[in-house]
Amino acid sequence: MNPYDTRTGKLHARVETTRRQFLLLVGALGALGATLLGGIELLKFMFPGATLEAPRQFKTGFTVDDLTGTGTLKVNVISDTANRVTVVLDTAGVYAVYLVCTHLGCTPNYVSDVTSGSGVTNSAATVAEHYAAEGGAIATRNGWACPCHGSRYYIDSTNFYGPAPRPMDWLDIQVGPDKHFVVNRAALTVYRQAGDTAVPTWRLDLKTGKNNGATIGV
Ligand code: FES
Repeated sequence: MNPYDTRTGKLHARVETTRRQFLLLVGALGALGATLLGGIELLKFMFPGATLEAPRQFKTGFTVDDLTGTGTLKVNVISDTANRVTVVLDTAGVYAVYLVCTHLGCTPNYVSDVTSGSGVTNSAATVAEHYAAEGGAIATRNGWACPCHGSRYYIDSTNFYGPAPRPMDWLDIQVGPDKHFVVNRAALTVYRQAGDTAVPTWRLDLKTGKNNGATIGV
């Protein structure tokens, strides 16, 4: 007689089947879990969370004393080209220009005369007029020239020549406890539209360490 034909045998066979199904189910779930985990790890590898972008807030390599130290100019300028920021001191206070050309994003170079070079059509008189709008605070015709397609910007970052469609932006700047400037690329203080040539009045007061809150377009 077939032992599986007995009542005990049938029961045993059913238990065996159930056990096999259970083991298969556990195995299948394990394989599914491993596949899911592997997939997630692969996605993490392909799209890493880390970013190579420089931190938005940074400390300049120079201090307040470095900016004010020369004392011979009415306008003092120090650039941190690695971080694409220039810090300007005029008689009204300090501001930071984000050196990103509004045409295609090149880094403009500081020049002592924005009308220098061939092909710049703005007359010296027009430039002088713009600088006079700063209340005579600026004695020189300094500003920026973009090396890529020749755009020119006054010292307050207003564009006046070349394909740049609008002025460069200004960034929030503070003085840290160690007298180094702390600039935040994520916080604009001045954002001007095309054709806006008004001289921004936002400034950081070095005596109080506070800004006057005169933001534009942000
Ligand atoms: S990127 Fe500056 S002029 Fe084109």
